[in-house]
Amino acid sequence: MARPHPIPETRWPTRLEAASSRLFSPQRCGAFVARTRSWVPAMVPWRATEDGEATDAVIDWYRRFADGRPGVIVIEATGVRDVPSGPLLRIGHDRFVPGLRRVVEAVREASGGETRLLVQLIDFLAVRRRPEKDKFVRRFLELREAHRERLAALVGDERAQTSEAQVREQLLALPHEQLLAILAPRERESLEYGYRERVTDTGLPHVASLPQALPPLFADAAARAQAAGFDGVELHCAHAYTLASFLSRTNDRADGYGGSPAARARLPLEVFAAVRARVGAGFTVGARFLGDEIITGGSRSEDACDYAERFARAGMDFLSLSTGGKFDDAAQPKVGEAVYPYTGPSGHECMPTVRIDDPAEPRSRGPFGRHLHLAAAVRARVRAAGCETPVVGAGGIATFEVAERALSDGMCDFVAAARQSLADPDWWRKVEEGRGASVRRCKFTNYCEALDQRHRQVTCQLWDRELDSPAPWGRERVTLSHDGKRRLLAPPESP
Ligand SMILES: Cc1cc2nc3c(=O)[nH]c(=O)nc-3n(C[C@H](O)[C@H](O)[C@H](O)COP(=O)(O)O)c2cc1C
Ligand code: SF4
Repeated sequence: MARPHPIPETRWPTRLEAASSRLFSPQRCGAFVARTRSWVPAMVPWRATEDGEATDAVIDWYRRFADGRPGVIVIEATGVRDVPSGPLLRIGHDRFVPGLRRVVEAVREASGGETRLLVQLIDFLAVRRRPEKDKFVRRFLELREAHRERLAALVGDERAQTSEAQVREQLLALPHEQLLAILAPRERESLEYGYRERVTDTGLPHVASLPQALPPLFADAAARAQAAGFDGVELHCAHAYTLASFLSRTNDRADGYGGSPAARARLPLEVFAAVRARVGAGFTVGARFLGDEIITGGSRSEDACDYAERFARAGMDFLSLSTGGKFDDAAQPKVGEAVYPYTGPSGHECMPTVRIDDPAEPRSRGPFGRHLHLAAAVRARVRAAGCETPVVGAGGIATFEVAERALSDGMCDFVAAARQSLADPDWWRKVEEGRGASVRRCKFTNYCEALDQRHRQVTCQLWDRELDSPAPWGRERVTLSHDGKRRLLAPPESP
């Protein structure tokens, strides 16, 4: 394992320097002007109910970010369908609107109306847990002639022509490698990683019809976001989810929605058009997508630039960049667990840690502003096309110096900081007020991400054991995680 990069020393600005900085200057973003160019990107905290409703804990999570008065906060990936999806927020029915409105009201109140609020709209395909081997072979595997033929080659014709139940038992009795050799590649994947649908599974009617199904689903969801009082929506076209999979170079659908870059961008653009038609020009609509998928055979920076130009020309209001986070190279999950798209090389790039590369390597960059060059490439392409669409850069941004340089060098128009904002939700305000020295600085070792991976309430190692520090907003009691061991919210600034 690579040695860790040290958290670099930094110089924080005085209040006067902050006041004349680009970071703390206004920036238009579609229908609104953000007070500053600071941005808290989407972060799932695992605090919704099993039915996808906003809880008091969800509301407090966003209220706490709003204390720092960033220019923009994006609410976590929120499902556009009305289907069970565990404790992830949902917006797939009108009954979710009142709960989401409470989130909006809390953010408005805590930020004094200074923070603009977006919600990230997501669709995803089915991913099942890695099955136990005997269950897979006895129950899930669809036995075909090809299996019998390959089995016959190993054990002899007569034994392979017995009843289906006997064939299954024979398959189960084989050494694991031989069983794998008999299975087709997708069956092998289902056994080793768990069954996972792809946008290229056009033999499945609900996958074939995604281009018809998704535009109205996203449009309805955006209309609900508007009704709940949000300032706009972010279409989730990043990481391992449906719209990202359409954009991926690995998408070879033959129905006009895969293959060429134009065909891969078609569904995200049709979703955007449906959303815009529903919410009108007075509501901000942008997209988050990948500056680089990182995976073998996946989309690279030139694809991202191509999509960015199409999105900007179509009238999207902002383009937010992320990196990696794919299923394709994810680590094998344990039996009974689902594959998680942030465990392979692309996942490590998505939330880069101080161990992302070896500081001794001459080309190492560490996590700090690691992917800004991808935002810069996209921005240059969009500007060359004559569009002023703002670009949001992310990845290891945690100091004023890195943020300000990214903006003044023209790499992006907003700087997004996820983990630094979790480590210290007040950090933007502290820096703006010339009190940067008191910022709790993120360690970039991904304790928070490990909690996310296990679907546990996300907290930060820098403060979640401070059970004796006060609760925020003068409340009497500190709220604790389900196991009672961790506080759920960063302590307030000490007076
Ligand atoms: C706990 C956690 C949850 C996240 N959830 C989302 C999400 O719902 N949608 C999204 O686009 N990115 C998500 N991300 C990625 C972040 O928005 C961000 O792109 C990434 O952490 C890199 O930025 P950073 O270095 O400032 O943390 C999540 C990150 C973390 C740590
Ligand atoms: S848990 Fe670690 S990586 Fe996550 S926000 Fe806190 S310090 Fe940063």
